[in-house]
Amino acid sequence: MARVLVTGGNGFIGGHLVGSLLERGDEVTVYDGAPPAGGETAAGARFVEGDVRDADRLGAAMRGVELVYHLAAVVGVDRYLSRPLDVIDINFSGTRTVLDLACRTDARVVVASTSEVFGKNPAVPWAEDGDRVLGPTSANRWTYSSSKALAEHMTFAFAAQHGLEATVVRYFNVYGPGQRPAYIVSRSVHRALNGLPPVVYDRGGQTRCFTYIEDAVAGTVLAGTMPGAAGEAFNLGSESESTVGEVVDLVVELTGVATGTAAADTAAAYGRAYEDLARRVPLTTKARTVLGWKCETPLREGLERTIAWARATPWWLELPDSGAG
Ligand SMILES: NC(=O)c1ccc[n+]([C@@H]2O[C@H](COP(=O)([O-])OP(=O)(O)OC[C@H]3O[C@@H](n4cnc5c(N)ncnc54)[C@H](O)[C@@H]3O)[C@@H](O)[C@H]2O)c1
Repeated sequence: MARVLVTGGNGFIGGHLVGSLLERGDEVTVYDGAPPAGGETAAGARFVEGDVRDADRLGAAMRGVELVYHLAAVVGVDRYLSRPLDVIDINFSGTRTVLDLACRTDARVVVASTSEVFGKNPAVPWAEDGDRVLGPTSANRWTYSSSKALAEHMTFAFAAQHGLEATVVRYFNVYGPGQRPAYIVSRSVHRALNGLPPVVYDRGGQTRCFTYIEDAVAGTVLAGTMPGAAGEAFNLGSESESTVGEVVDLVVELTGVATGTAAADTAAAYGRAYEDLARRVPLTTKARTVLGWKCETPLREGLERTIAWARATPWWLELPDSGAG
């Protein structure tokens, strides 16, 4: 049993992570700026409401904590196009605050990062030390990638200068029950079950490696516990590459609705502010070797479980459609 704090523990991945830590018998504090979308923080966890940039409040919540999973962030295409300043400030300053406090209290830290740090590097699959290839700073689309990359830099810098024990995990298109309907899978399921055609952007030929939430959580837990993980970054992603069009078609098939699909053009919708990626594929050898982790859940099974949850969850179906998927 460990005393653990999860920032962003009321969010999608954080909520599932908290459930898994509680099952393991950990004593869990959730630190988040808001309650969970659908109700209450997981039973058995302590919830402290606060901003991750508030060092006094977070410091008080972290007292006695041995391990911090830092997931609080501003996430999602709709948000990094509409709130680029919040993306930069919260993802950068929030991480700075967490790392600083962890140093003072000798807590170990796992920092949630993203496949977006690789930007549009065409040389897939991406190893952890692959290059970052980004567009111009005038495009808000890159604020998320840059803020998370800076958070990673800071993590390794704190380790180098202050001996902080810290690990970075980079998620690749995580999906599953509870995700805000603003991403390819969640938005497609949400639209299909509401009788609307799921949207296929830019003809749907772009590829992603969809990672089921339970797998992402298992890798995250291991990153905080395996001895060889400190000081390292890990790609946590499925090895199975699918086109966006295939995934949307599968959602339509599994929901059994007769909506068909709708086509959309990101250039027309967002102009030059947005740029989609042709392929996003992780190399996962390092996670396999050091963490003993791989994504186990096939896409069809993960989608079936997500759809079954969505059908049984009226409040989620009633959420507004969040636009960019
Ligand atoms: N979902 C994915 O596919 C994915 C992919 C790559 C990386 N990530 C990373 O994983 C982490 C979790 O993502 P998620 O999908 O669960 O997102 P989410 O939006 O569901 O959860 C983020 C949580 O952070 C909280 N938060 C935001 N700003 C805060 C602040 N200033 N102070 C305190 N709490 C704040 C929110 O209230 C929310 O509960 C993030 O760091 C994200 O960048 C997610």
